[in-house]
Amino acid sequence: MNEPRLGPMLYSRDAIAARVAGIAAQINSRFAGRSPVIVAVLKGATTFLADLLRHLTLPVMVDYVRIASYGAGTKPGEIRFIKDVELPLQGRDVILVDDIVDTGATLARLRQALQAHHPTSVTTVALLRRAPKRSLPPTLDLVGFELETDAFVAGYGIDCAERFRERDAIYVVEGTG
Ligand code: IMP
Ligand code: MG
Repeated sequence: MNEPRLGPMLYSRDAIAARVAGIAAQINSRFAGRSPVIVAVLKGATTFLADLLRHLTLPVMVDYVRIASYGAGTKPGEIRFIKDVELPLQGRDVILVDDIVDTGATLARLRQALQAHHPTSVTTVALLRRAPKRSLPPTLDLVGFELETDAFVAGYGIDCAERFRERDAIYVVEGTG
């Protein structure tokens, strides 16, 4: 395997900033008069969350989950938390924030796991969604950009083998093949 490097820029710092402000405006109007609990998925969603938070005019609470990458031995629908939610979610409006949705499996499992806490609602938000091509139609309520490439992407919190999170734009990763 070659050393991964960043290729062409897909979304500039300015384009991301404008879109994040737009998503925040949608959240502000959708949850007007309410106080949702934001549950962000570590680690990739942290940059997106930080920028999103600064545009919110609602009194929100913030929590984080970290989930193990699933693989052999994990049944469909199962999820393993390395770090579970800490705030009580019962009777709350939950906004689940992730960086990128590919097949939608991660978010679907997470949503299912959070339902066990009996929230009033679960709304899903992701900065990127890969154009649906596989069996699972990703159910997402709010999305930043529809990613039209199969290529791996990184930057703005999103990593490739823990690298490139610090970059302020989103790029195609090259050299991983
Ligand atoms: P899904 O369960 O197939 O929707 O996969 C979603 C997860 O895979 C995301 O939370 C990311 O952590 C990771 N992922 C998918 N595509 C990419 C990518 O292009 N770059 C970085 N991470 C990715
Ligand atoms: Mg992730």
